[in-house]
Amino acid sequence: MFTVDQLRQMFLEFFQEKGHKILPSASLIPKGDPTLLLTGAGMVPFKPYFLGKKVPEHRMVTTCQRCLRTADLDQVGVTARHGTFFEMLGNFSFGAYFKKEAIAWAWEFVTERLEIPREKLWITIYLDDDEAFEIWNREIGVPEDRIVRLGKEDNFWEIGVGPCGPCSEIHIDRGPGHGCGREDCSVACDCDRFLEFWNLVFIQFFQDEEGNYHPLAQKGIDTGMGLERIAAIMQGKESIFEIDNMREIASFVEGLASKENPVSVRVITDHMRAATFLASDGVIPSNEGRGYVMRRLIRRSIRHGKLLGIEGLFLGKLAEKIIHVMATGYSELLTRQDKIVSVLVQEEERFAATLATGLERLEELMAACQNKEISGEDAFKLYDTYGFPLELTSEIAKERGYTVDEAGFAQAMEEQRQRARSARTKTGYLDNEAGIYAELVNQNGITSKFTGYENAKGKGRVLAIIKDGEAVEEAGPGELELILDETPFYAESGGQVADQGTIGNGQIRFQVKAVRSPVENLIVHRGVLEEGIVTVGDELVAEIDTARRSANCRNHTATHLLHAALRKVLGEHVEQAGSLVAPDYLRFDFKHFKAMTQEEIEQVERKVNDLISENHPVQAEEMSHDEALDSGAVALFTEKYGDVVRVVSIPGVSAELCGGTHAEHTGQLGFFKITSESSIAAGVRRIEAVTGKAATLKVQEEARLLREMAQKLNASPQDALEKLAQVLEREQELARKLETLEARLMAQKAKQLAAEAEDIQGVKVVAAEVDSDAAAMKLLADGLREELGSGIALLGSRKGGKAIFLALATADLVERVHAGKLIKQVAAVAGGGGGGRPDLAQAGGKNPEKVPEALEKGREEIEKLLRG
Ligand code: ALA
Repeated sequence: MFTVDQLRQMFLEFFQEKGHKILPSASLIPKGDPTLLLTGAGMVPFKPYFLGKKVPEHRMVTTCQRCLRTADLDQVGVTARHGTFFEMLGNFSFGAYFKKEAIAWAWEFVTERLEIPREKLWITIYLDDDEAFEIWNREIGVPEDRIVRLGKEDNFWEIGVGPCGPCSEIHIDRGPGHGCGREDCSVACDCDRFLEFWNLVFIQFFQDEEGNYHPLAQKGIDTGMGLERIAAIMQGKESIFEIDNMREIASFVEGLASKENPVSVRVITDHMRAATFLASDGVIPSNEGRGYVMRRLIRRSIRHGKLLGIEGLFLGKLAEKIIHVMATGYSELLTRQDKIVSVLVQEEERFAATLATGLERLEELMAACQNKEISGEDAFKLYDTYGFPLELTSEIAKERGYTVDEAGFAQAMEEQRQRARSARTKTGYLDNEAGIYAELVNQNGITSKFTGYENAKGKGRVLAIIKDGEAVEEAGPGELELILDETPFYAESGGQVADQGTIGNGQIRFQVKAVRSPVENLIVHRGVLEEGIVTVGDELVAEIDTARRSANCRNHTATHLLHAALRKVLGEHVEQAGSLVAPDYLRFDFKHFKAMTQEEIEQVERKVNDLISENHPVQAEEMSHDEALDSGAVALFTEKYGDVVRVVSIPGVSAELCGGTHAEHTGQLGFFKITSESSIAAGVRRIEAVTGKAATLKVQEEARLLREMAQKLNASPQDALEKLAQVLEREQELARKLETLEARLMAQKAKQLAAEAEDIQGVKVVAAEVDSDAAAMKLLADGLREELGSGIALLGSRKGGKAIFLALATADLVERVHAGKLIKQVAAVAGGGGGGRPDLAQAGGKNPEKVPEALEKGREEIEKLLRG
C-alpha cells in the first residue's frame, strides 16, 4: 500500500525524471493576485508564467500544492469526497511541452508507476478537441469507446480572470457496486462509480474580467491530481477520510469524543486541517475575507465538537496532532507550531465565551418564534453581538426544523455597513483610525511584541496591513501601515521619537518613516512600500536604523542625567514636566520658578559631563509599581503605568519609570552641551541640549565663530573681547564726529541752494536733487528754512536705491503751497505715496530713476500754485 507521503514523493520524483523542477508548495494566500481569496489549485502561483507576464526560472515544474476550496463547505462531512483543504499534485509547462507529452506522461505514471489496470480507466475530452482524441486513441491506444467528449461544464477549466483552456480528465471505474445502478450510468454521471482523479488542462486562452477569451502566445500545461483522492483509490478506501493521514487525525478526534457522529468527525478533520494551514500561512480569524473563511472553519469545528460531546478546549491539541501528521510534506508547520496553536486557541476561547450566550439566545428566539422562521434581524443580532456566523445559525435552525430569513440578514448587514460608514465620516479620519486599531486588537486578537530592547533586527510576520485607513489583505507600492507580530521598532512614546529603518525581504522593501502605538499592545509602522507586494502572513525582516537609535539612546540617557543634575544644582523641587528625545537633540522641560543663571547652567553642564566621564552603567528592570516606588524611582506625571513597570536606573544617580531605550553606559554619551535655556510657561523652564558628536560639533562651531571674529578684529581669541570694546568705543567717537561734520556740510549746502533759488512771483523757490539720506535731508531742510527766511523748497534724492523727497514751506507761504499736498503729487511720480504737515513733509518712492521727473513736476506745481 502506498501512503500519502509515498504517493506525493513518487509523483514529484516521476516528473523530476522527466525534466521538471520540484518546487515547494506556495502559501494558501495567493501572492500578488487580488482576484483570488485563496490558493485553490496548483497553477495559482504560476498564473503570470502562463500569461507570459513573467519569465519563469524553469519552464517545466512540478509541485504538491496545498489548496483550499470553500464552495462546498456545506457538503463537507456529508459525503465521502468533499473537503475544503487538500493537496494537489501537478506538473506544469510554460511553453515547453503541450498535449502530447502531458497525456503520455500522465498515462505512464498512472499505468506503470501506480499500476492501475488500463481496463479500469476512462478518458474525457472537450467536445471538439480532436487533437486530444488522436493522442489518446492513436498514440496511447485507449479504445474509442473509452474516450468521452463532454461540454464546457466538464472539460473546460477556468479560474476567473487568468489562463484557461480545454481539458482532459482521467477517471477510474470502481465498478457497478459503487454506482447509482441506473442503466445510463457513465463516466459523466455524478455518482461514486466513475471517479475523476487527474485533470490535464491545455492552457491556451486568457480569460479577461468580462469573460472574453483571448488566445495566448505561448501554450501551456497545467495538471492537477487530488492527492487525497488518488490515495483513496490506491488504498482501496471508500472515503478520503479513511486514507492513512486523514484516518490518523480522525481517530484523534474520535478519541476526544464521547458521542458517535461520523459527520462531525469528518467536518472537524477537514476544517481543522484547513485552519491549521491557514494559521501557518499567517491568516488570522476575522470578519472579512480569508479571516472569515478561517473563522467559519474554526467555529464550525467547535460546534461539531459540541455535537461529539467534546469537553473543554480541544483545538490546540488537535492542531498539534495535525502538524505532526502533515509535517513530512510541510516541515514549516513544525517551526510555526507555537504561533498556529496560539492563534487557534485564542479564537476557540473567544468563541467558547460567546457561543454559550449565543446558543441560549437562539433557543429563546426559536421558542418565541411563531412561524418557524428566524428573522434576518435576529440572525444578524446573533452574528453581530454573539459572533454567531449566519451559517451556524442556519445549521442549528435547520436541525430543529426552523428556517432563517437569509435575505433579511443580508439587508441588516448592509444597513449596519452604511451606519458604520457614515459614523466614520462623522468622527473623522483620526477617530476612524483609532477604531480600526482597536478593532484589530479587540476583535482580531492582533498584538505586537516589541523586541527592540535587545535586538536591532528580527523576523516578523505581517498580521495586518492598513491602507487609506482600511485593513486590507495585501498591498502594492505606496504609503501604508504594517503591523507585525514582533518588531524591534520603538514606537514614539515617553518623549522618545520612533525608530526608522526598513522591513522587507528579497522582493519587498518597506521604508519605515514613523512608528506609533495607537492602542496598547499594537505597534504600527507607517511608511512607504517601495517594492513588491506585501500580504498578510508574509514573514519579513525588520531592521532599524541603528545610528539613529544609538543617538536616541544617548539623548534619552542624557535627559535622566540632566534631571538628576538639575535637582542637585537647583534643588529637589525640580520636576520633569515633559521631554523630547530626538536623534539630533533633546529637550527637557521642568518646574523651576526663575531663569537659570549662566553659572547654574554651566554647573549643570559640568555635573552631567562628570556623570558621563564616570561611565556609570544604565540598567533597566521590570518590577511591580510598588517595588519601584519603594526603590525611590521617580514617577513622571505624564505616564500611565500598569502593574508591572520598567525602571531605568543609573545606580547612585537616578532611577526613573521609563519605557525608553538607553545607552548601556553613560560614557557612550561622550559629551553634553546645553544649547538654550528659556521659559515656556509660568514656572516651567526648558533646556535644549545635545550630546555626543552633535555636542562636539556645537562646541567646534562656537569656537570657529570666536576665531573668525577675533581674526576680523585682528586679535587673538583671548584678546578679542578687549579689542572689541576698543573698537566699539572708537565707533561711537567716529559717529559723533560724523554727525558734526554732516551738520556743517548741510549748512553749507543750504547756503548754496538758497543762493541759487529761483524767483517765482517774488517767492524764492528751491527744487533740487541732492545726494543725502533722509536724516541729512532733514538737516538740510532746517538750514534752508533759515537761509531762505521766506520760500519754498523741494528736495529729492536717490540715495540707498530709493526715491526720497522732502518739501518745506515757510510759515508765511503755507496758505499758498501746502508741503504735504505737494509731496503727495511728487512722490506719486516715483511710484510712492506720503504726505505731511503744510510746512514740512517727507515721502519715498520705489523708482529712484524718476526723481528728476518728479522734481520737475513739483516745480511746475509750485509755479502753478504761486501764480494761482
Ligand atoms: N487547474 C486544474 C484543476 O485545478 C488542474 O483542476
